[in-house]
Amino acid sequence: MPDSPYLTALAGGVPSRVPVWFMRQAGRYLPEYRALRAERTFETMLHTPELVAEVTLQPVTRLDVDAAIFFSDILVLPEALGMGLRYIEGQGPVFDEPVRRLADLRPFERDAVGFLGDGMRATVAASPVPVIGFAGTPWTVGLYMVEGSHGKDFLQARKLLREDPTRFGAILDAVADATVEYLAVQLDAGASAIQLFDSWGGLLDRDEHLAVAHPRTERIVAALHERYPGVPVVLFSKGTGAYLDAILERSEADAVNPDWTVDLAALRGLTACPDAVQGNLDPSLLFGPPEAIAAAVRDHVARVGTTGLVLNTGHGLNPDLDPDRVLAAVQAAHAIEVTPA
Ligand code: CP3
Repeated sequence: MPDSPYLTALAGGVPSRVPVWFMRQAGRYLPEYRALRAERTFETMLHTPELVAEVTLQPVTRLDVDAAIFFSDILVLPEALGMGLRYIEGQGPVFDEPVRRLADLRPFERDAVGFLGDGMRATVAASPVPVIGFAGTPWTVGLYMVEGSHGKDFLQARKLLREDPTRFGAILDAVADATVEYLAVQLDAGASAIQLFDSWGGLLDRDEHLAVAHPRTERIVAALHERYPGVPVVLFSKGTGAYLDAILERSEADAVNPDWTVDLAALRGLTACPDAVQGNLDPSLLFGPPEAIAAAVRDHVARVGTTGLVLNTGHGLNPDLDPDRVLAAVQAAHAIEVTPA
C-alpha cells in the first residue's frame, strides 16, 4: 500500500486526502449486498471466503472509501469457542446456550476458523485499500455470550457479574486471550490494522468500566503491539463519553473512535488522547439532504483538523440508509483541502 491516507492518518500524520470509511459499510443498505444475501443466510456468507472478499469490497467499489472493514462479525469468536449461534431475522444473534462458566467453552484453535484466514487472504489479494481486521472487546463479546442473546440491557449477564464476579472475570479473561489469537489469524492473513469494538462499554459506570472491562481490552492492545509492532490498533468506544478521558489515560491504543455524543475536537485537547482520532459523525446525519451532509462533514473536519484524522461515524451505518447519501459524505470529505496543522 504505497500511499494510504488511512494508514498515514492512523500514524498521526498528514494524509494526502481526508481518509474516510464507515462502520457497517458492508451490509444491508447496499442493494448489491441484499442481492447476494437474498439467496443465502448471513452465516453462509460469513463462512465463504469468496463471498467475504466480494462483500468486503462492495463499499470500496461503490463509495471509494479509504479502507475496507473485513466482512465478518464479532460473534464468530464465541462460535469458535464452541457456542452454537444463529442470526434470527428481526431479532439479531441468539446462542443455543448461554455460557455460565469457563468450562462451558473449548479452547481457541486456529483450525476452527480456517475460513477467517482464507477470507482475509482473498480479500487482501483483491483490495486496493488497507483491510481492517476486528474483534469485539472481551466485555462486549462476553455480554452476548453470558446473556445468550441481545436480551434486555443484558440483564442476565450483569446479574452474573454481581452474583459471581470471579466466575464472570474468568470468562472475560479467556475471551481476551482467545481474541489475541483470533486477531493474529487476521493479521497473519494480511490485515493492515485492527479495530476493537467496545459497543457496550457504556453499560458500566466509570469505576467498573476501568476495573472490569478496560484492563481486558488493554491486554489485547499490549499483546498486539508486542507481536505486531507498527500495526495500528483502534478502539471504538460507545457510551463511555462521561469517562473516556480516564480510559485514554490507561490505554496504549493508537487511535480512538468515540460515539457521536463526544466532542472530538475537545477530546484531542486532552494530553491522554492519542495522536490519531477516528469518527464520529452521528450516523443518522446520513438520512439528511446531501447538502446538509456535506456541510456537516466540512464543519467536523474543520473543527477536528486533518492531521491524524480518519473520518467515520460514531456507530454503524443504518440498514435503511440511501447509499447515495453515504457517497455524498465520502465525496465531501475527499473534496476537503488537507493542510498540515
Ligand atoms: O461493514 C462492516 O462493519 C463489516 C462487518 C461487521 C458486521 N458486524 C457485519 C454484520 C462488523 C464490524 C460487525 C460488528 C458487530 N457485530 C458488532 C460491533 C459493532 C456494533 O455494531 O456495535 C456487534 C455488536 C455485532 C453483533 C451483531 N451482528 C448484531 C447485534 C447483529 C444483528 C443486528 C443487525 O444489525 O443485523 C449482527 C448481524 C450482522 N453483522 C449483519 C452484518 C452485515 C447483518 C446480517 C444480515 O445480513 O442480516
